[in-house]
Amino acid sequence: MKSWIPSRYCIACHGPFAIGGGSIPDLRYASADVHARFAAIVVGGARAERGMPAFGDVLGTDDALAIEAYVLELQAAAAAREATGAD
Ligand code: HEC
Repeated sequence: MKSWIPSRYCIACHGPFAIGGGSIPDLRYASADVHARFAAIVVGGARAERGMPAFGDVLGTDDALAIEAYVLELQAAAAAREATGAD
């Protein structure tokens, strides 16, 4: 597994995946459909016409799945915070 730095390719638009702003979706709240197509979106450019670039020249499917795993960790942490009301 290549080391992956969240900020490197995604932070310019998605921040550290902990925020969404303007028309950029907060990846922590991505739908099951998005997760099913995560690699297709990130590597294959399935949403390229909507402003989400393809990263197939710099990232492989394994990288996309590592990013997805990281996003799911953030999602679980956010859900836990909401459940407890803690900040
Ligand atoms: C140039 C800005 C830009 C960069 C850089 C970028 N994204 Fe996006 N991303 C977008 C936009 C805009 C959308 C919304 C596209 C749409 O409406 O379908 C999006 C949507 C997504 C979605 C679908 C989310 C959803 O709920 O519909 C995923 C997953 C995603 N990006 C992952 C990534 C990852 C991982 C990276 C880094 C490898 C990245 N993006 C880098 C602009 C960017």
